[in-house]
Amino acid sequence: MAKKGPIGFFDSGYGGLTVLEEVKKVLPEYDYLYLGDNARAPYGTKSFDVVYEYTWQCVKELFNRGCELVILACNTASAKALRSIQQNELINYPGKRVLGVIRPSAENVGKLSKTNEIVVLATEGTVNSLSYVLEFEKHSPGTVVNQHACPFWVPLVENNEFKNEEGVQFIKKDINKVLFDFPNIDVIVLGCTHYPILLPVLEKLVPSHISIISQGEIVAHSLRHYLKRHTWLVKKLSTNKTCKFLTTENSAVFESSVKSILGLDLKAKQIEIKTH
Ligand code: DGL
Repeated sequence: MAKKGPIGFFDSGYGGLTVLEEVKKVLPEYDYLYLGDNARAPYGTKSFDVVYEYTWQCVKELFNRGCELVILACNTASAKALRSIQQNELINYPGKRVLGVIRPSAENVGKLSKTNEIVVLATEGTVNSLSYVLEFEKHSPGTVVNQHACPFWVPLVENNEFKNEEGVQFIKKDINKVLFDFPNIDVIVLGCTHYPILLPVLEKLVPSHISIISQGEIVAHSLRHYLKRHTWLVKKLSTNKTCKFLTTENSAVFESSVKSILGLDLKAKQIEIKTH
């Protein structure tokens, strides 16, 4: 019988936890193993090659720890590394799967807009990759997709500085520019998994006729459908309802940041990622 393992979740830092929390609500029966590469975050301002290298190292780490399925709960990694991993690397790991978060969003968000015009807020890396524009062209061609990069938002989350006055001013500056540049939008997609952590601030700044969409729920339902279609993979997933956390950062820092950023009590283990 095939050996069973947890579903792996990967992000550059804390952002992927916003996706994992929603996935656990929809698929509570599985085991999960989360890896945050906090020591090397942010990824959003790094080159294609570096994001690819770091992401693949972390995916291999999760494979080595028994994961048969890994979710890149990071838009930057999904934009810059997913396709190459699927096309070039998985050939050496038969039966293992890696999925991202951009396609599920492109498949589902278009129908939420009445004006058929949206904006995706994301890291510079995701915006420059044009992944959202291309995925919407495929899955929601009637939607006008604008993009805006918010390079300060991930550091604001990682350093837990988004609630202070200076942090709020940074966020406000981006939102004002978006509202000015794209007056016809009625949907803002948070195209970075760190950004839902900023929701309490964003909700005060964005007018009520504009919906702010986080990806967690969308990814969760998309994963549920994916597993229904891939029953051979489900057979390789363990189901003891456990959830473990790994970080490349000091584990006490990870635990206290997660507590103050997301209000979650969890225990984490610090690991070193093999770089060769
Ligand atoms: N959570 C990652 C994303 O969704 C943040 C990337 C970063 O580290 O800059 O893009």
